Amino acid sequence: MNLKKMLAAHAAVLALVAVSAQAATNEDIAARIKPVGDVCIQGEECKGAAVAAVATSSGPRSGEEIVAKSCNGCHGAGVLGAPKVGDSADWKARSDKAGGLDTLLSHAINGINAMPPKGTCGDCSDDELMAAIKHMSGL
Ligand code: HEC
Repeated sequence: MNLKKMLAAHAAVLALVAVSAQAATNEDIAARIKPVGDVCIQGEECKGAAVAAVATSSGPRSGEEIVAKSCNGCHGAGVLGAPKVGDSADWKARSDKAGGLDTLLSHAINGINAMPPKGTCGDCSDDELMAAIKHMSGL
């Protein structure tokens, strides 16, 4: 369901890569050092606005992204007894025992036994961790 968003993000990254890869010619350098602050005319394409839109579109990362980046190393194969990605029965039992996903979230934030605080994702927000838990558990 987040596929469109992901594809859009990938397209944006590719566009940025393409822009920086081009910047080697004198013409491009001249274009880059020209004064900033182009006026955007309504109804016409405005490159500055497009860049701003890309910059502000990087909201919270999806659970899938967080899992791939930080959690899958242990939760993918069940290292050290970690509940496996997609093993909803294990996750449900844990959630029931803890009294709900919110408690699992607090265990994920603070760490529990061999589970490190924030699952090694130091820059994850609580919402991103919760998205990761939902993605792994299917709950
Ligand atoms: C270094 C390995 C490791 C990494 C990386 C890791 N975990 Fe874990 N996780 C574990 C282990 C081991 C357990 C089982 C702990 C236990 O119950 O003894 C666990 C358990 C959990 C639990 C259940 C806690 C409970 O109360 O039953 C949650 C939620 C969790 N991890 C979330 C995450 C999230 C989210 C990430 C990624 C951001 C992550 N983990 C990354 C090892 C890891």
